Amino acid sequence: MSTSAVATLQALKTARRRIVMVTAYDYVSARVATAAGVDVVLVGDSAANTMLGYPSTRNVSLEEMLMLTAAVRRGVDAETAGGQRPLLVGDMPFGTYEQSDEEAVATARRFHAVGCDAVKLEGGGTSLPRVRAIIAADMPVMGHVGLLPQQVGAEGLRARGRTADEALAIAQDARDLAHAGCFAIVFEAIPAAVSALVVPTLFVPVIGIGAGPSTDGQVLVFHDVVGLTDGKTPRFVKRYARLLPEMVDAVRAFASDVRAGRYPSDEHQYAIDDAELAELQRQFGRLG
Ligand code: KIV
Repeated sequence: MSTSAVATLQALKTARRRIVMVTAYDYVSARVATAAGVDVVLVGDSAANTMLGYPSTRNVSLEEMLMLTAAVRRGVDAETAGGQRPLLVGDMPFGTYEQSDEEAVATARRFHAVGCDAVKLEGGGTSLPRVRAIIAADMPVMGHVGLLPQQVGAEGLRARGRTADEALAIAQDARDLAHAGCFAIVFEAIPAAVSALVVPTLFVPVIGIGAGPSTDGQVLVFHDVVGLTDGKTPRFVKRYARLLPEMVDAVRAFASDVRAGRYPSDEHQYAIDDAELAELQRQFGRLG
């Protein structure tokens, strides 16, 4: 993998240009994100919930992630006409990097093989050797601290770093990940005041999700941005459209047209030449 991932995001940080990252999980969402001009497309393991209907990000398999990532690669490429293309980052799913450095590098290579510029994995601590091993194998790594959905247990999807001790541990993880060579770090669900304190001390770009305005960029889940999710969302979610009810309306209108005989109308039908039709009727009649 090239080091352009590192250079591109670092240049945006240096120029104080806020970095825009959005998740994408298939050909269509990748085309939309690329056409909108985002800087980074993340094939997040949130695909588990948004695309596959699993209850947790822990449920998505490597094979499922790779299938989605390959489609995203095709979508990004289809929409990139000679211009700047967004970085493509693949999220290493639960159970595919924790056991050993070798396992982590093998997983990262599979993401590379389907077209990723970089991979992301969760946590500091035991993830640090994995991060170093993947970088040593020449693949850029994005870190992820704060709320780590792959490790959520009974305590649930609550914000992290709301006590001094927890915030210090997050700051330490972020520093360790930066020193291990991560080219960027995601801060998820961290109080804005904690980010404001920690982000200026880091030399790598920080991309926040529910981490306040002082990060170097922001990421949201595609389905939340365009309103393909419904129900209760985390407080940091901002919906910029409400596509889900529009989609239901569209399919309902189709169903209603079919049932009422309004679809298909003349404009939706193929024609056959009169002479050909007459010939067909003659031969068809003979078939008996
Ligand atoms: O999977 C995902 O969507 C993520 C983002 C929350 C950063 O990891």
